[in-house]
Amino acid sequence: MDGKYTWKADYNTGIKFIDEQQQYFFNIVSTLKENLSTGVCKESASKIFFSLAHYAEHYLIQEEIYFKDYHFPTIKQHKDLHKEFIRRVIQFQVDYETDVVETCRTMLDYLEEWFDNHILKYDKKAMDYLKEKGL
Ligand SMILES: [Fe+2]
Repeated sequence: MDGKYTWKADYNTGIKFIDEQQQYFFNIVSTLKENLSTGVCKESASKIFFSLAHYAEHYLIQEEIYFKDYHFPTIKQHKDLHKEFIRRVIQFQVDYETDVVETCRTMLDYLEEWFDNHILKYDKKAMDYLKEKGL
């Protein structure tokens, strides 16, 4: 993410489900960023964690189903990245109990990196494959 936190048209993949997923995740990061800057991370954290759980349970799982259905070649590596993401989010929830602000900060960095590296790179590449296969 380049720091401006505005949605860019070229984020779109043309696959409705994936575009929704990206937008959903982007909104979580924007909310967290805004809340940190206004010092209300504590009030909003449970909503952020709820949204991240929804992202993982709904979107990541659906992505994996597509990978399986369309015989995506590096499904194992991609699923491992999803698992690591879920592990990190659970750890953030634990850390949050002892240090709210620091956890929100670290989490924001992690989520931004996930958006830039996972969603915009790995997922996009995977979607190109799925589109080629007719999704
Ligand atoms: Fe993914």
